[in-house]
Amino acid sequence: MSKTSDDSLKGKKNKRKTLSVKDLKKLNKIFAYLRPQRKLWALGFFFLLITMVTSLLFPKLLGGLMGSTPSNLRDNMLQMMGLLVIQSIASFFRVVIFVMVTERALAAIREDLYGHLIHLPMSFFSAKRVGELNSRVASDTSQIGETLTTTLAELLRGISMVIGGIAILAFTSIKLTLFIVGVIPPLIIVTIIFGKFIRKYSKSVQDEVAASNTIVEETFAGIQTVKAFANEAWERSRYATRIKEVVGLAVKGGYYRGAFASFITFGLFGAIALVIWFGAGMVHNGELAGDKLNEFILYALFIGGSIGGLASVYAQLQKAIGATETIFDLMEEQTEMTVDRVETEAVEIGDIAFDQVEFSYPSRSDVQVLNGLSFKIPKGKTIALVGKSGSGKSTIASLLMRFYHLEQGGIVSNSKPLNEVDLAAWREELALVPQDVLLFGGSIKENITYGKTNASDAEIIEAAQQANAWEFIQGFPEGLETTVGERGVQLSGGQRQRIAIARALLKDPQLLILDEATSALDSESEFLVQEALDRLMQGRTSVVIAHRLSTIRNAHEILVINEGRITERGTHDQLLNLGGTYSELVRLQDLGGSEFLQSKHSVAKS
Ligand SMILES: Nc1ncnc2c1ncn2[C@@H]1O[C@H](COP(=O)(O)OP(=O)(O)O)[C@@H](O)[C@H]1O
Ligand SMILES: [Mg+2]
Repeated sequence: MSKTSDDSLKGKKNKRKTLSVKDLKKLNKIFAYLRPQRKLWALGFFFLLITMVTSLLFPKLLGGLMGSTPSNLRDNMLQMMGLLVIQSIASFFRVVIFVMVTERALAAIREDLYGHLIHLPMSFFSAKRVGELNSRVASDTSQIGETLTTTLAELLRGISMVIGGIAILAFTSIKLTLFIVGVIPPLIIVTIIFGKFIRKYSKSVQDEVAASNTIVEETFAGIQTVKAFANEAWERSRYATRIKEVVGLAVKGGYYRGAFASFITFGLFGAIALVIWFGAGMVHNGELAGDKLNEFILYALFIGGSIGGLASVYAQLQKAIGATETIFDLMEEQTEMTVDRVETEAVEIGDIAFDQVEFSYPSRSDVQVLNGLSFKIPKGKTIALVGKSGSGKSTIASLLMRFYHLEQGGIVSNSKPLNEVDLAAWREELALVPQDVLLFGGSIKENITYGKTNASDAEIIEAAQQANAWEFIQGFPEGLETTVGERGVQLSGGQRQRIAIARALLKDPQLLILDEATSALDSESEFLVQEALDRLMQGRTSVVIAHRLSTIRNAHEILVINEGRITERGTHDQLLNLGGTYSELVRLQDLGGSEFLQSKHSVAKS
């Protein structure tokens, strides 16, 4: 399995060597985003065209000015001023319009990309690093923006300068033009070769910088952990190693760039000297009017300059194609549901049944996490899952939420396979209270209404009261409007838990999943949270993953999970009488050994 994905990766790399028709087709996808503004864009191109013509005339007028006689000096200067005024006005509008068009298109691309990414299945997110995705959304789109505003204009202006300039020269002297044209292609060929090397290095530098940024992002996000383990120095050296690799690569690329710069200097000025030498000879022989030589040299200069500029334009275009490719590859990733969801009928969750469910995570397909699980979750009843850490309890919860696609065995609700139920409608009916609740930046109110955005204030307060959260919320000067999250008030684990419970209460789901919801709490919070959870679970189909066994005494059925298998099942009393793993765990917890469940080798084997 992993082999095929390797092969496809290689295939991708092979494709991205030179600009091909296929690559240009990829750029075409961007143009689709410009289509809604094609009129404005066309206007931008009109101004671009004007600047193209004026730049083309510039050397001619400059040459004329240099060769002015006292009688036409004033006229030549006026012409020149007129040209510059036109060019500056056109440049202004070209830039403004291109920026407008580009920024709007970029906004649409960013929105589509984010909108697409957020609909991708969990398997995608567990295989990718979040920092990397962030940088894709931010930097690759900027890369495209740069291309649309500047590079494209430079490309067209460069090409018109080269072609138009040569045409104008040809009118004056075919012979000298042919001489110049003979000098230019070798310059171009060497430029392209250099461009290739430079691009190769700048790409690896970019990758390496991205990798080092991941370290920065991850450690800042988890700064508490870093500090708690006094790992600053270690992280610093990890970062430094990466950064050194960047330096190494960048310096290698720098040699090519330096060589390129000196080549351009030598080639360009050498070519100019050659042209002047050749042209001066022609003037001596009377093959060319003396005052035309100025013009000729100026055009040769401008053409040479444009070719130099085109090389960087070419490199920039390749970068943009790389960025486009990654962005549109991401956009082609299969979403887990149709992005534009049509309203479907509400789902009625009845009895749920797991039938011989086998599962392994897509990212670790060789490890079987669930091994033929069968059990029922009767409507309105509570099913509890216990077992040591890593036994597969959270995986069962993930499958209930349909975070992953199930290949072996099946889960049915109301005798209907889950795969046939509309995904969004299904999730509409669930609520999850996890062990570690992450609140989004925003007000407490926004966090409570996350599952029901149109709730009234009375409903919100009612839910907060039921969740034992109202008291502490009221304690804040701003009450429900208190900002939480990264830039707001820091809530304790128990407080966040109760916000999550209020959120779930407000959503009023048919199926409730609690994944170790109380295990990270101190005993006082645990009491308040447990009380709130009991209210939440009342009469509701619930799956409770419990670390503290006292919380699941009344469950309809308790399943002891070990290595993805059910090893014991029954009510609390039945399991106690059985005298197996469960009764042992209960005995240990009563002795205060609750942490035992977390240990790697529990008594499950006995
Ligand atoms: N996203 C994931 N990708 C790959 N493996 C995972 C993922 N999540 C959990 N696992 C693995 O699946 C097994 C069961 O994990 P989990 O269901 O979280 O256990 P529990 O909740 O019982 O502690 C573990 O071996 C764990 O390493
Ligand atoms: Mg878990």
